Amino acid sequence: MPRIAIVTGASSGLGREFVRLIDSGVAGQVDEIWGIGRRAERLEALVRIAKTPVRAFCFDLGVLDSFDVIEEALAKTEGAEVTLLINCAGSGSFGRFGEQSSTSASDMAAILVRAPVELTYRALPYLVPGSSIINISSVAAFMPQPDLAVYAAAKRFVLDFSRALAVELEGTGITVCAVCPKPMRTGFFDAPGDIETAARITRALGFEKVERVARKALKAASRGRDLCIPAPEMRAYYAAAHVLPYRALIALQRKIGTIT
Ligand SMILES: NC(=O)c1ccc[n+]([C@@H]2O[C@H](COP(=O)([O-])OP(=O)(O)OC[C@H]3O[C@@H](n4cnc5c(N)ncnc54)[C@H](OP(=O)(O)O)[C@@H]3O)[C@@H](O)[C@H]2O)c1
Repeated sequence: MPRIAIVTGASSGLGREFVRLIDSGVAGQVDEIWGIGRRAERLEALVRIAKTPVRAFCFDLGVLDSFDVIEEALAKTEGAEVTLLINCAGSGSFGRFGEQSSTSASDMAAILVRAPVELTYRALPYLVPGSSIINISSVAAFMPQPDLAVYAAAKRFVLDFSRALAVELEGTGITVCAVCPKPMRTGFFDAPGDIETAARITRALGFEKVERVARKALKAASRGRDLCIPAPEMRAYYAAAHVLPYRALIALQRKIGTIT
């Protein structure tokens, strides 16, 4: 009965930190970690470094066949129990919607929206009481974001999907937690796009530490929380986004410099 943690985006940034913490025992007893990403050498490094057996799935989550591979692997693993599913893979590009390539916009939608839905659907039959799903959203989900329009809308989808699923699964012992980090220094900022806009946003909001976000997320999930906003000031922003009209929020964002 192997207890499996599946982590997408395991090759870098927040996903890699989740793997490190799970390997160190922070998420309880896990027999295998299944790490998903496109960069084989980085996944192979995890296989070598981790004390827990890591199975590397090197594929593109933008391609539907990838989910068949995971589903088949689960079906072939006798007594497989997915105790932790972390949908973390993602990328985003800053800038005006009309100035982005159409592939960049639709790739973003595929990886940020379709991938967590597909993987959650395929893995759900293998989750057991006590299992948790952690879906990585973003503070960008709190309100529609000019210059980050597709990304922010996709992260809003992740937030709403997660919280609705959490309610659907009440009483099963399976929890779902949406995590909304603010900017973190990861490979996320290496993606092509409008560098000026990215710099403006990070100047205004600052960065938070990847390790802290991963720890807070695992703790929130273990406590059955459906929402984790690690940065305290972002919790205030989340509350404000519920009461202030959109135009007032836009004016506020112009004032702090996150949008022009
Ligand atoms: N960094 C931030 O400021 C920030 C803030 C809020 C939320 N987030 C969210 O946090 C999550 C993790 O991002 P990060 O900051 O850790 O960035 P990162 O260092 O760039 O990591 C992104 C991960 O996603 C994987 N990935 C991207 N596209 C993929 C694809 N098509 N198929 C398979 N794997 C793919 C990458 O692996 P390969 O390249 O090997 O495929 C990598 O492991 C994302 O969902 C992001 O939207 C980030």
